[in-house]
Amino acid sequence: MRRKFIAGNWKMHLLPPEARALARAVKELAAGLPQVDVAVAPTFAGLAAVAEELKGSRVGLAAQNCHWEIQGAFTGEVSAEMLRALGATHVIVGHSERRQLFGETDETVNKKTHAAHRAGLKPIVCVGETLAEREAGRTLEVVERQVRGALREVAPERMPQLTLAYEPVWAIGTGKVASPAQAQEVHARLRELLGELYGRGLASEVRLQYGGSVKPDNVKDLMAQPDIDGALVGGASLKADSFAALLRM
Ligand code: 13P
Repeated sequence: MRRKFIAGNWKMHLLPPEARALARAVKELAAGLPQVDVAVAPTFAGLAAVAEELKGSRVGLAAQNCHWEIQGAFTGEVSAEMLRALGATHVIVGHSERRQLFGETDETVNKKTHAAHRAGLKPIVCVGETLAEREAGRTLEVVERQVRGALREVAPERMPQLTLAYEPVWAIGTGKVASPAQAQEVHARLRELLGELYGRGLASEVRLQYGGSVKPDNVKDLMAQPDIDGALVGGASLKADSFAALLRM
């Protein structure tokens, strides 16, 4: 049985003291909800303050990106090892905003996934189609390409630590959530694909999050789908009361 996993992606929001205060509220909430796994992803600037707040708690700390090298002349980049040293437990890789706005490719997503594993971080690997791709009937083909690319040469023993997040680009920050049936269709295909790549046993262990306009009023129906094991949430994770409603589903 896969445990539900709700992660808040705070994107480029919240100053460090604000992030810390929200992390404190999430920590207190999560303490009373032991059946659900929880993580928050502050900006790089907020990581240290949030790490201090979350120390000893059951809330995971995710970075929103990493570089694939351990160190070097890469101005402006941060390695997975550095994130780990700050107290991160997870790292989001391949978010659609990074793919669309910052040139992330299937190849760099794959390198970052390997880097996360090397550093002992659990990757949350994001995939998802654009509106044009969905309207052209290419959704499953696109996410399959992204998953195969991201997981190239990722060893089976790494897979239980990895989370795959399906985030249709047209649903992110738009208020247009995928219907539970639309999301489940893609999740079922992702699970099947993981089965082809790693065998059905491992595929049944990997958690698949849905992301894109998840809100307190739609989370329950999404989470009721057989292959949706959690959510990667942007806007609704920025306030303690809506985060609480998400966790209580
Ligand atoms: P919203 O929940 O704001 O649509 O963002 C989703 C997302 O991109 C999470 O990574």
